[in-house]
Amino acid sequence: MAQMKNCDFIIRIHDSEKKFATRSGTSVLSALMPTHGDDITAGCYSGGCGVCKIQVLSGRYATGVMSKVHVTDAEKKDGYCLACKTMPESDLIIRPLRKVPPKIGHRFGYLAR
Ligand code: FES
Repeated sequence: MAQMKNCDFIIRIHDSEKKFATRSGTSVLSALMPTHGDDITAGCYSGGCGVCKIQVLSGRYATGVMSKVHVTDAEKKDGYCLACKTMPESDLIIRPLRKVPPKIGHRFGYLAR
């Protein structure tokens, strides 16, 4: 249960002391970027590029449409999802993957050509 003021849920980053507050209806990526942007990579914000991939280790959440190129059905069962398409429905513990495929990295400027 969330215990910070003006928030619905607390999201914790696995293997760190970092945690942040968020509101219902806000994606994990949108909630994380203003204060913890160093912990996650953001690209298209629409489920297409895959750079914001995370694994949810605990908690309930809903996801929007995600490309199977970036999150397979088998990965979904293991809690993998795209942060920009993941809406918390309880407190969460997440593990950002921060792996940027080269094609995507070049397109969004994360990798030098
Ligand atoms: S930012 Fe592109 S899929 Fe999430």
